[in-house]
Amino acid sequence: MIVRPRRLRQTPEIRRMVREAFLRVDDFIYPVFVVNGSRKREIIPSMPGIYRLSIDELLKETEELKSLGIPGVILFGLPDVKDSMGSAAYAEDGIVQRAISAVKENVPGLIVLTDVCLCQYTDHGHCGVIKDGRIDNDTTIDILSDVALSHARAGADFVAPSDMMDGRVGAIRNRLEKEGYRDTGIMSYAVKYSSAFYGPFREAADSAPQFGDRKTYQMDPANSREALKEAAIDVEEGADIVMVKPALPYLDIIYQVKGSTNIPVAAYNVSGEYAMVKAADQKGWIEGQNVMMEMLLSIKRAGADIILTYFAKEAAQLLNGKR
Ligand code: PBG
Repeated sequence: MIVRPRRLRQTPEIRRMVREAFLRVDDFIYPVFVVNGSRKREIIPSMPGIYRLSIDELLKETEELKSLGIPGVILFGLPDVKDSMGSAAYAEDGIVQRAISAVKENVPGLIVLTDVCLCQYTDHGHCGVIKDGRIDNDTTIDILSDVALSHARAGADFVAPSDMMDGRVGAIRNRLEKEGYRDTGIMSYAVKYSSAFYGPFREAADSAPQFGDRKTYQMDPANSREALKEAAIDVEEGADIVMVKPALPYLDIIYQVKGSTNIPVAAYNVSGEYAMVKAADQKGWIEGQNVMMEMLLSIKRAGADIILTYFAKEAAQLLNGKR
């Protein structure tokens, strides 16, 4: 007998009937960079269409997200001053803290997640504090707990530690519990690789390390069993959602993490993945929109329940049939 798989591809209706994976607007979280000041929409050259926004502009942006049906936003702050301990990261009136309360107050219902890390706030650009020339794990997780608490106090729904220090999810969970923030969730960047795909983000967030690299805390791209270990540790420490980052070069990791845990899995479609599509599209070398949708679908098919992506608005417009 000849087997004819093409029978199921004959018409759009048949293809729709047998389709396995779907993208939905509900899948997306949109990352936003927030700066001090007002009426600011600063261009980020390597990320066309993405801006550093002052809080007034952030409110317009988040209104738009809500009207598109995008469920959540993740905030990244750019402070005016940096120091060796990253103290602007937990200031009560810090940029992210003010941004959180502004969004919670003005755009009810939109989920506010916050990146918890020190690299935008330290003058050396590392994700932790430095002692004797090394990133000191345990001092760092104390500070990160202060940061997470300050975000929770400002009204964040989820804090998302992205530093890759050991024990930070547990430390943050304990601090939140102790201070009465039992309902603040943790989406941990559980599996975060030391990746060259973060380049445009570091330009956008002014967070490049001033010496060395992040290889002593972020993961080696060669390792997948270690990814399962990292995810398991974070689940054990109380994470509500685990994330894999970047997304595209690590679809195998998303697939494996999904199979190894029973909590939601997020994937971060990072700045370099976005920049490549935009650059090639601008050159006319690819069909940007089609490539975007195929990429996002592949992340979903690999097993991601949630996708953090700079494409969220564009993809939502397409999915809503508005374009
Ligand atoms: C902060 C952080 C980074 C990203 C998210 N949180 C950069 C880094 O680890 O250097 C990257 C996101 C992106 O590239 O879009 N630690």
